[in-house]
Amino acid sequence: MAQADHFYVTTPIYYVTAKPHLGSLYSTLLADVAARWQKIQGKKTFFLTGTDEHGQKIAQAAQQAGKDPQSFVDHFIPAYQKVWREYDIAYDYFMRTTEYEHVRAVQKWITQLLESGDIYKSFYTGWYCTPCETYVTEKDEQVQGEAHLCPSCGRTTQLVSEEAYFFKLSAYQDKLLAFYEQHPHFITPKERLNEVISFVKAGLKDLSISRTTVSWGIPFPGDEKHTVYVWADALNNYITAIGWGQPGRQAVFDAWWPASLQIMGKDIVRFHAVYWPAFLMAIGLPLPKKLLVHGWIKVGDQKMSKSLGNAIDPQVLYEQYGADAVRYYLMRHLAITQDSSFSVADLEQAIGSELANDLGNLLNRTLTLAEKNGMMQVAADQLLDGPTLALRDECWTMIDEYAQHMNDSLFHLALARLWRFINQTNSYFHAREPWKLAKNDKKAFEQTIFATCQSLYTIALLLWPVMPKKMEQLLVSLGVTWQLPHNYLEHLQSDRWSHHFMLHKSETLFAKPEPKEKEAAAAPAAHEPSYITIDDFAKVELVVGTVTECQLVEKSEKLYRLQVDFGPLGKRQILSGVRQSYGVDELVGKQGIFVLNLKPRMMAGFESQGMFLFAKDETGKAIMTTVSSNVPNGTKVT
Ligand code: MSP
Repeated sequence: MAQADHFYVTTPIYYVTAKPHLGSLYSTLLADVAARWQKIQGKKTFFLTGTDEHGQKIAQAAQQAGKDPQSFVDHFIPAYQKVWREYDIAYDYFMRTTEYEHVRAVQKWITQLLESGDIYKSFYTGWYCTPCETYVTEKDEQVQGEAHLCPSCGRTTQLVSEEAYFFKLSAYQDKLLAFYEQHPHFITPKERLNEVISFVKAGLKDLSISRTTVSWGIPFPGDEKHTVYVWADALNNYITAIGWGQPGRQAVFDAWWPASLQIMGKDIVRFHAVYWPAFLMAIGLPLPKKLLVHGWIKVGDQKMSKSLGNAIDPQVLYEQYGADAVRYYLMRHLAITQDSSFSVADLEQAIGSELANDLGNLLNRTLTLAEKNGMMQVAADQLLDGPTLALRDECWTMIDEYAQHMNDSLFHLALARLWRFINQTNSYFHAREPWKLAKNDKKAFEQTIFATCQSLYTIALLLWPVMPKKMEQLLVSLGVTWQLPHNYLEHLQSDRWSHHFMLHKSETLFAKPEPKEKEAAAAPAAHEPSYITIDDFAKVELVVGTVTECQLVEKSEKLYRLQVDFGPLGKRQILSGVRQSYGVDELVGKQGIFVLNLKPRMMAGFESQGMFLFAKDETGKAIMTTVSSNVPNGTKVT
């Protein structure tokens, strides 16, 4: 059993058919932040990431590139490692499934299961999706005329019949259900666990885990015309990377397994929450403590992916905005458990307003004022006045709430909570007008600088997992040496605001992005300009209307079909994707703000003749826009 002060976190291993994109960075960054959060609590961490290098998909891509599969995958590895380095992804091991130790250990895993009877030989006939490397089950099948489509990617599948080895997944159905029941927090968010439970309850069939049609894979032990199914190969990386099945590595394995946190996108939950636990049960190993399932980064309405050609290159963002700003944006503005859209305009907005204004300026003003008044040494003040005591209380409450969200891996909520405190510190600072106090109340001036430094110190330590380089820079300007291992969280929780600071003027922490003219940027979304002119704005017809009807759209999980009354401008049908945020009855009768001159478009079989405007709160819930008191329908918003 893993040691109590050990934290083992994993990312999915990436298919190497191209360079990493922003979606791959997102999964990896979540793991990095999770590991760093444990580090600042004095824990020992092991962070595993890597690449999934076998299977049909890779073999086909290599063939198209005119290369053999091994040199094809080798070619991409430096690109992954470079991006991870640039973004300060502090992984401990980069796993490649073509590694000798992994191959041997997977073969050992198969041999052991052949002996125990959990793997047996038979025949398999089914519809196979090559891009997803998976058979499509009858239940999920989508038949369109002659074609059988993959429910996950929508592409055509092929009917394949082959001799195969099967893993006795059906034998684990009850054990899995009992496990989910005993571990209700096994998956975050909880809805994903419910989906998994329904899937398992619907019945598990034995899983084909070998292929005779794919030669680029691990040779099946004892029967070399078969190769190991790529998911049976890939999932095992989580144990082979820390030594399972390898001579002399048992103690290391025992120190780290079971994993504390396994991170993955919502598209691969079934593999991790059903097959993987069953594979582990079959060799008598404990199951991971938690799976964290994140949503997709979208561009417009589509998932960002290499195959759709809308992938954003993290390298370009890094060069333009720097690692920490992008890290912050991805962690704060994408609600981890939901799908979120990426836009360069939002990223620039967050850098300008939250990083440069709220945080950077607070530091800058404090340092400038302290320097101007010869106060580069800040001593702790024991006799705090009312407003300073109130700020200190806010600080202590914030630390606990922030820690709670971070422990739940809800990083976006943790950051939103921390930002509330940054803004409280800004309000405190401004309300006290220290530039006046410097002239007429030296004591109150010194207390203001001290309290602001204490706040900044707390903020920097807590933000370190998200923006390591910038927060180390901030700490240097406060005269604090950053040093790990150290339980900084415990330190903050018992800290009585008794620090002394030695201030140093430093370079600006965050620069505001320059407004761009026609500069080429990262990707599709990057072409948005930061500013529009008043004439551009005048082109958008914003109008108040009342929702009169609201119906579910059958083909979609998200859409409502609304009928909206615009008074003299008539009635319109408008489709709106807010089903997860509002019930059917909650919108009817409400006045909202709509864009009326958007080009009509078909959504899930219905024409949408406008757009209802919503804002997303920090949890990702859509909040409708409205007017503060009723106006006649059809009134323009200007
Ligand atoms: N090789 C398998 C995983 C095997 S793990 C034992 C695989 N690879 S992948 O490259 O296709 O995807 C890896 C991860 O990247 C998944 O968690 C996936 O959800 C994530 N992302 C890929 N595109 C994404 C977005 N557009 N947004 C967020 N994450 C996405 O599946």
